[in-house]
Amino acid sequence: MRILIIGSGGREHAILWSLVKTTRHSLKFYCAPGNAGIAQLARCIAIPVTDIAALAEFATTEMIDLTFVGPEAPLAAGIVDEFERRGLTIVGPSWAAARLEASKSFAKQFMSRHGIPTARFKLASSAAEAVDILARGEFGPPDTPVVVKADGLAGGKGVVVARSRSAAQEAVHEIMEGGLIDRQAAEQILIEEALRGREVSLLLFSDGLNYSIMPAARDHKRIGEGDTGPNTGGMGAITDNSVLDAGLLARIIRGVVEPTLSGAAAEGFPFRGVLFIGLMLTSDGPRVLEYNVRFGDPETQAILVRLQTDLAEIFFAMARRTLADIKLEWTNESSACVVLASGGYPGKYESGAVIMGLNECADEDRVQIFHAGTARSSSGEWITAGGRVLGVTATGEDLAQALARDYRLISKVHWQGMQYRRDIGSFLSEPPTVSNE
Ligand SMILES: Nc1ncnc2c1ncn2[C@@H]1O[C@H](COP(=O)(O)OP(=O)(O)O)[C@@H](O)[C@H]1O
Ligand SMILES: [Mg+2]
Repeated sequence: MRILIIGSGGREHAILWSLVKTTRHSLKFYCAPGNAGIAQLARCIAIPVTDIAALAEFATTEMIDLTFVGPEAPLAAGIVDEFERRGLTIVGPSWAAARLEASKSFAKQFMSRHGIPTARFKLASSAAEAVDILARGEFGPPDTPVVVKADGLAGGKGVVVARSRSAAQEAVHEIMEGGLIDRQAAEQILIEEALRGREVSLLLFSDGLNYSIMPAARDHKRIGEGDTGPNTGGMGAITDNSVLDAGLLARIIRGVVEPTLSGAAAEGFPFRGVLFIGLMLTSDGPRVLEYNVRFGDPETQAILVRLQTDLAEIFFAMARRTLADIKLEWTNESSACVVLASGGYPGKYESGAVIMGLNECADEDRVQIFHAGTARSSSGEWITAGGRVLGVTATGEDLAQALARDYRLISKVHWQGMQYRRDIGSFLSEPPTVSNE
């Protein structure tokens, strides 16, 4: 059997590592376009993730049995519909289902239709309209924090949590007219009530009918320790029993997961693939911040190191809509992924630095090094080739042990300009979270 993974980051490296580690079948792996770390596990094919026609050609001529999609861009562009039109087996949401991530206004209106708890919002189709909504005071007096979001995919740059109304008005202009975000993505803009609480990421596999929940995760978005500085793609993530207790999980399943999946099916786009629900646990209960229609990066790295079930079987069951027939097993551990990034990231960063120490710590016990942005120099050395370079990911009996394993390994790896956070897994004090009703 041949499996093709689409993507090139730490997430895709973790998916391939997990496939290789858990499967009992004899499988051949391909990755488009992949990276230098992934090339140790799969044949990398130089096709960009958004060249859907070329990917489908490849899957056809190479007789790929199953394709799994990592990133959101090809999903939002309809890769699943196109593969299925050609009779190819692919696991991921259709174009229609991918709107849950690709359009925040679609997602918010979907949540309204199905009674799924989320922040109060207003939609505007011009900067003037958005500024007017803010000026009317619907989101509170001038000193109230308020959130401004571009409607479309913006690679994490489309959301501003503004401290005040005037800061929000500035953000409206910045998002809609600043030129930093793709024009189409910022054609519409959302104004949202600012929620307070602890953030949790809940991911699940779904075959369109049945679903299976993964261990809940938390991530660190900002570059600086103490959650300071600009946002990044993610500097670290953890899983741990303390992230979500059983009562709260049950409440989220009943109030969010099930109405989301049944709502999608009822509207004619049964959700098949990995659904990522970003939640805020407020004092009034859990609220959905956003949906992502794929694995998160680096949450995936922290989650998959605990998976014991054959991931290929999970993928095939999703394709055949038989997910209900397999029971997913996770180790009863904690896990942590610490991202090592290039100097300058998330701004303009340096590439081509020689990474020292990587080969020496390749087989440390219970620590995996997932490559996000690496390449090989002409003389075979590992060099940096991206903003986020490596995701060092460990399991442990508790979070402290997982983190200790990560940082012990990190102390042996170095390159010019390397940066990482030393406080992954410690979260600022937050308002008390909701108790179970
Ligand atoms: N309504 C809200 N109240 C408070 N914080 C929010 C709200 N919406 C988003 N955020 C913050 O902004 C971050 C990014 O928003 P999100 O909707 O997840 O967009 P994206 O991940 O596409 O950039 C969230 O992780 C959260 O920290
Ligand atoms: Mg998000």
